[in-house]
Amino acid sequence: MVVSDGSNPDRYEFDGFAFIGRTFGEYEQMLGLADVDLDGTRVLDCPGGACGFTAGATARGADAYAVDPAYALGFGDLAARGRADAARAVDGLDGVEQLYRWEFYDDPADLSTYRRAALARFLAHRRAAPGRYVAGGLPDLPFADDAFDLVCSAHLLFLYADRLDHAFHAAALRELCRVARDEVRVFPLHDFGADRYDGLDDLRLGLERDGYDPHVESVPFEFQRGADACLRIEV
Ligand SMILES: C[S@@+](CC[C@H](N)C(=O)[O-])C[C@H]1O[C@@H](n2cnc3c(N)ncnc32)[C@H](O)[C@@H]1O
Repeated sequence: MVVSDGSNPDRYEFDGFAFIGRTFGEYEQMLGLADVDLDGTRVLDCPGGACGFTAGATARGADAYAVDPAYALGFGDLAARGRADAARAVDGLDGVEQLYRWEFYDDPADLSTYRRAALARFLAHRRAAPGRYVAGGLPDLPFADDAFDLVCSAHLLFLYADRLDHAFHAAALRELCRVARDEVRVFPLHDFGADRYDGLDDLRLGLERDGYDPHVESVPFEFQRGADACLRIEV
């Protein structure tokens, strides 16, 4: 599995994997979940990062879990890293604002408000329900086959394509499908340069060969220019 620094002035740069998160409302838009009734469903967020999604899904009646390698850290370290990475992630937009559409978020300050809200919800829920936040990572998740009805995966695959190679993407998607009983949803399909992942068709063919039904569906959310679709895989 290849890791490189991928330096390029025409793209958003972030050293390492950002431990940041989105709110439940952002996930609803990005993953096209607004019409999905989560009550009574088993849901996984992978990677969960500093997201408020698991808290929000649990509040809506789901049996929700999040998994992320960073969850091996203690509470204080996670909080500190979440705060530092949220600030660094927003600062990194300086000079590359043109890669983004400022509609859902008014401006970087508004984006920062969302990141801080997500982190606060994550920290409060992790403190209240630590068992819902599991340390682990792709491509080997610590869950049984078909453990979840719906598996969500945002801002890891495709986005970090400069440091995660094609073999990693194929193995990670197979693993997400293994732990899903009904569906996997992945967003975005673009990298930090706002280019769509060019191996997507190959990955879709591989998933079809494995008996899954992958398709790309538009979603009512676009921040990176052109990134307004998610990959939905029926398993
Ligand atoms: C940009 S955050 C995305 C978090 C969240 N899904 C979101 O959309 O805001 C990327 C996350 O991927 C996690 N990560 C890094 N390597 C991973 C792996 N091999 N498997 C699962 N998660 C990983 C990082 O710890 C980090 O929390």
